[in-house]
Amino acid sequence: MDKVYFGTNIKMTKTIAETERFLCSICDNSLLQKDYLVPFVIPSYTALSMAGKLLKDSPFLLGAQNMCWAESGQYTGEISPAMLEEVGVEIIEIGHSERRHIFGETDQMINRKVLTALSHGFTVLLCIGETEQEKESGLTKEVLSTQLTQGLLGITAQPGKIWIAYEPVWAIGTQGKPASVGYVERIHIYLRRIINGLFPTAGPEIPILYGGSVNRDNASRLIQAQEVNGLFVGRAAWTPEGFWEIASIALKDFIQ
Ligand code: PGA
Repeated sequence: MDKVYFGTNIKMTKTIAETERFLCSICDNSLLQKDYLVPFVIPSYTALSMAGKLLKDSPFLLGAQNMCWAESGQYTGEISPAMLEEVGVEIIEIGHSERRHIFGETDQMINRKVLTALSHGFTVLLCIGETEQEKESGLTKEVLSTQLTQGLLGITAQPGKIWIAYEPVWAIGTQGKPASVGYVERIHIYLRRIINGLFPTAGPEIPILYGGSVNRDNASRLIQAQEVNGLFVGRAAWTPEGFWEIASIALKDFIQ
C-alpha cells in the first residue's frame, strides 16, 4: 500500500478548549504536505463542531468516536449520522474495545452502525481485537474472524470506504502490555487474508491499522511489519509533540 494512515482517538480526555489548542498545534507541520500520509483525528462529540471548522481546509480527516445506527428518533444519549455530517465528520470509528467491553456493544450492533455509516458515505474505521483471556485460550483467530465477518456482514457497495484497526484489548491503555511486532505481523497477515476473501476486488486496498500502546519506541518497527498500513495511537499522540514525533518516525521508515 502506498499510503500511511496515522491518527489518534482522543477518547474522553480533552475539553473543547483543550482540543482546539491541540488541533491548532498539529495543523502546522510540513509532513501534512506529503500525499502518502492520511492523517486523521477523532475528538469528543462536543469538540466536533469546532474541529470541523478548524480542519475544513486541512488534510486532516475528522472522525467521531461512535454513532447510532438509527437515522433519528427516541434514542436518548445517542448521536445520529445527520448530526455528524452537519459538523463535517468524515470517519466513524465503530467497535472500539472500550465500546465493546465497557458499554456492551455486540457484533450485531456494530454491524448495524457500519451499514448506516456506509449508507451515509462516511468512512468506517472498524476496530477489532481479542481480550487477554481469549488470547490465552487460543481463541484469537476465531474471535477476530467473527468480529470482522459479523461487523462487515451485508456490505454490498463501498468496501473502499472501510478501514480496519486491529487493537488487541490487552495492549490498549495505561494497563496495556505492548504486543510484539512479530505477533502484530502474524495477525495482520491473517486479517488481510480474511478481508481479501470477503472483498476479492477491493480487499487489498482496505487499510489495516495497528493500535494499542503505540509509542515512539515501537512505531518504526510496527509500521514496517507486513500488512500494517497505519498506526492508530492513543495516549502517546495526545500532545502535539508526541503526535508528530511518532508520525515522523512512521513516515521516515515508510519512505526508505
Ligand atoms: P493507547 O490507545 O495507544 O493509549 O494504548 C489505543 C486505542 O485505544 O486506540
